[in-house]
Parts: sequence; C-alpha cells; structure tokens
Amino acid sequence: MSDWRAPEGWRIEVVDEIDSTNEEWKRRQPGHGRVLVALKQSAGRGRRGNVWLSEPGVGLTFSVALRPSEPKGMWPRLALATGLAVAEALGKLGIEAEVKWPNDVLLGGKKVCGVLVEAVGEVAVIGIGLNVNAVDLPEGLEATSLRIVAGREFEVTEVLGLILDRLKSRTGQIGADFPELVARLRERCFLSGKRVRLKSPSGPTEGVVQGIGDGGELLLQTAEGLQRLLQADEVRAVE
Ligand code: BTN
Repeated sequence: MSDWRAPEGWRIEVVDEIDSTNEEWKRRQPGHGRVLVALKQSAGRGRRGNVWLSEPGVGLTFSVALRPSEPKGMWPRLALATGLAVAEALGKLGIEAEVKWPNDVLLGGKKVCGVLVEAVGEVAVIGIGLNVNAVDLPEGLEATSLRIVAGREFEVTEVLGLILDRLKSRTGQIGADFPELVARLRERCFLSGKRVRLKSPSGPTEGVVQGIGDGGELLLQTAEGLQRLLQADEVRAVE
C-alpha cells in the first residue's frame, strides 16, 4: 500500500491493528527513534483516561519511543515540543496550525491532533493522533481534520515523514535550547488573551492567559489580579 519511508534517525514499524501504540511501546520499551504506526487501534487512549477514536484509513495514529539524555524532570517538555513539531509539519503542507497549551494542535479553533506523553523506565513514549482524511467527525467534539480544512486528501505517509522531521529537531530542544522552542510556541499559542477556567491542585482558577512562561508554563492573570504560573501536568482545562 503506502510507502512508510522513515526520515534519518527514525525506524518505522506498521501494524494492522493493536490495542494502543502507546501501550505497545510501554510494554516493549524499544530503542531511541523507534516509531509504531497502527492502521487501527482497538483501545486508543487520550489524556486523562479519555478514549481516542480514529477511523481506520483516515487517521494517523502512532507512537515514538525516545530515550532522552536530559533529566526526567525535563521530560514533560516533550509534550510542548511535540505539539509545536506537529503544528510546524502542518505548516509545510500549507496549513496554519495553533497549539492549545500544553499540546493539542488546532485548526481554526478545532482540535486536529492530540498528544499523549508517557514515561516508562528510561523510555519516553510520545503518542500522536492526527485526523488526516476524516470527513465525518462525531458531533460535539469540536474536532476537525486536514481534509476538512484544506479541501483535499493527504498521503498519511507524507504527513508522518514531515512530523518525524520536525519532531527530531524539537524534541532535541528540551534542554539548553528550550528558550528557542518556547519562543516559537508563543507565536502559535491559541490560548493567549483568552479567559480560561482551570482545575489545579490548589482548586479552580479563573483568569486570562498572558502567554507561556520561560519554563513552558501557562501564565495566567487571575481575577484577583495575581499572576500564576501553571505547570502542564497539574492543570486541567474546564473551558
Ligand atoms: C489526547 O488528545 O487526549 C491525546 C490523544 C493521543 C492519541 C494517540 S493515538 C496514538 C497513541 N496511542 C494511544 O493510545 N494514544 C495515542
């Protein structure tokens, strides 16, 4: 069928069906740069235990395994790096994408891609689900696809190659080069200037997003006039 050629530094394996590519990579804990693509997932997972639905043949669902040399405390930055990498890859297809902090990719305010980063032992597993050629998406999900936005079909193999290219550069920037990554992320920050309600360990917080902090945190101006820096792994968007 398609040509799943891997860009330099990556090795791609394709399976017809699996429960979840993230689960498989967590079970196998493969070497750095291994990519698992599933044509169909029977139990695809999203963040916070959500289900990730994708119709076979119209979506791109895959996971990459990395063995980062940076300390584990920096690994949450991989989520930011991945959202940015996907947005930049879509830019190469002529599609302007924004990143909804921390790592959803949006087109015209609707979600086109979700990212799930998990760690097991020395391996960071980055799972990516992208709506490529879908035309019928479930109502009420506020989701879209490349095809809906661009009005044409895309080769999933080409899209994967472009993402892996950008992913290699951006995931290499979670250490000393992180400021450059953050600068690029700020240019694509969907939430900037928007009023949000978030759940954090200290309770619900409402405010206007000022942007992204130097450490990749969400900068929020609260109703009480306080500035808060929120970490990606401790907040949950309510609206
Ligand atoms: C989210 O938006 O909540 C994250 C969705 C992540 C979905 C991808 S699809 C490939 C990989 N395998 C999974 O089970 N989940 C991720």
